[in-house]
Amino acid sequence: MLSATRPDVALHGVDLSPDMIAVAERDLAGSGVSLHVADVARLPFADDSVDVAVSSLALHHWPDPVAAMAELARVTRPDGVLALYDFRFTDMEPAMAALRAHPAVAADSVRRRPARRGPRLDARLHPSGAARSTDAAAR
Ligand SMILES: C[S@@+](CC[C@H](N)C(=O)[O-])C[C@H]1O[C@@H](n2cnc3c(N)ncnc32)[C@H](O)[C@@H]1O
Repeated sequence: MLSATRPDVALHGVDLSPDMIAVAERDLAGSGVSLHVADVARLPFADDSVDVAVSSLALHHWPDPVAAMAELARVTRPDGVLALYDFRFTDMEPAMAALRAHPAVAADSVRRRPARRGPRLDARLHPSGAARSTDAAAR
């Protein structure tokens, strides 16, 4: 597990369900992973504070992909990475369109590729972070 091989990396897990977080707390006891009950559209992290954001089998639940992608882009640092996995039946197009349209995301980095259980959506934030934020929204 990553927490054992890379103790220098701060790992956080997020889920909207307190029950799911309770299961994770039990399974990850002593691992050093921080767990949070939170909505993907309102993450408990500062701007640009995450190197890599990974989502596993949850995107199909998110009611507002635009808000979710905006929040993931907000917390991910410039040149950081998003990797979103989901089931085969998941329509990744709304999330991909939201990322391509987001000013902090490098539009040509947004890709869908096959993964083990279904699609994986990859994206990278602009290295400079220059296009980020309200300045871009005001253009
Ligand atoms: C199929 S489970 C996958 C759980 C885990 N990520 C995994 O890979 O085993 C989907 C999870 O998405 C969570 N979820 C649904 N909507 C969410 C939201 N808006 N924000 C955060 N988590 C959400 C659910 O509570 C549920 O635990």
